[in-house]
Amino acid sequence: MNFFQYKKNELYAEDVPVKKLVEEFGSPLYIYSHKTLLRHLNAYKDAFSSTKHVVCFAMKSNSNSAVLNLFAKNGGGADVVSGGELFRALKSGVPSEKIVYAGVGKTEEEIRYALKNKIMMFNVESENELREMDRIAGLMKTKAPIALRINPDVDAKTHAYISTGMKKHKFGIPIENGLEHYKLANSLRNIEVVGIHKHIGSQLTKASPFVDALKKILVLVDTLKDNNIFIKYLDLGGGLGITYSNETPPEPADLAKKILPLLKRRDLTIVLEPGRSIVGNSGILVTKTLYLKKGEKKEFFIVDAGMNDLMRPSLYDAYHHIQPVVKNRRESVIADVVGPICESGDFLARGRKLQKVKQGELLAVMSAGAYGFSMSSNYNSRPRAAEVIVKGSKYALIRKRETYNDLLRGEIIPEII
Ligand code: LLP
Repeated sequence: MNFFQYKKNELYAEDVPVKKLVEEFGSPLYIYSHKTLLRHLNAYKDAFSSTKHVVCFAMKSNSNSAVLNLFAKNGGGADVVSGGELFRALKSGVPSEKIVYAGVGKTEEEIRYALKNKIMMFNVESENELREMDRIAGLMKTKAPIALRINPDVDAKTHAYISTGMKKHKFGIPIENGLEHYKLANSLRNIEVVGIHKHIGSQLTKASPFVDALKKILVLVDTLKDNNIFIKYLDLGGGLGITYSNETPPEPADLAKKILPLLKRRDLTIVLEPGRSIVGNSGILVTKTLYLKKGEKKEFFIVDAGMNDLMRPSLYDAYHHIQPVVKNRRESVIADVVGPICESGDFLARGRKLQKVKQGELLAVMSAGAYGFSMSSNYNSRPRAAEVIVKGSKYALIRKRETYNDLLRGEIIPEII
């Protein structure tokens, strides 16, 4: 459910015509719906309201500070994976005690930064990282609150690049080594064991892998208890999928219904790390048609957004629905929607049945709120797009379009050349 709907054949973001926003802010343009963002955050809060919980938004999916600020104001925390994300979260008003920090390669500088800011916990991914954290916390005369990220060896049944919970993946500690790692953690003077973490992958469209993974994790939690190691936070990770085309993923409430009965009579605070399921369908990318080109085999719609603006189709062959901003009655054609970048992999859609467009007309690339702008780049020296948020009939710029000068920021032409 989102609030990008047609009114008399014209696409609106809530109560504002998309066309009007492009006229004011240019193209390509990311547009987010305030109402959809909040609706999705609240869907998690409501689903888990019967138990102690924190929704730590996975900000890798969308790290705009206005989006983070909106979530923070509504009780959300953040799941961060770098010092940069931690900086953004803190600057955007996310309380440090609602921040969890994951990732297989945290640097000493990043660990120090997070310890200084007293985050909720680190999700530690290896023995070496644990020992390093103990050393650094010792030097800082503090204790590092940690969860171990456990790899439960469950197949998330999603795209290979975004599946993380199996033995062959770099993530987490194999579940069979969990007890021994927790014993080690418990014995380290500057480590405080507070939680357990798992995240098995992204864009999951079934609840069963979540349930299977959780069951395995709970067996470990019980074993830990038998060994006098007590867990306060159970971090279930993120990964709930969204509808890009015809997927029917569970809603947060469906997930809660399956998960909460397994947690009865356990005094645990649930941590959730959703990203895509909150922001994915809350955002669109609008792009202008530059040229139409009839190839020998097919038609090309050449648009002003490229793989640098939205990388998912090129990287994962991901499907994003594309629709005209103003509907017309023209016939449909089979076309590739491609960007201006000098690579054949620069496409937003291939072999897609689309209504014919004319030069200058706008297309909306749907479900682009997650891993859209946050994965964008300056490849081909293209300034990154602007971002706008709409709330009812109001709207505001939340990131300026980059300029050519922004492209050169930080670059130096030294004397030695
Ligand atoms: N927690 C951890 C530890 C994660 O690694 C991730 C995503 C999440 C939470 C949030 O997962 P979500 O709820 O968004 O599925 N760029 C890819 C997705 C990469 C996901 C990486 N980790 C894409 O565009 O599909």
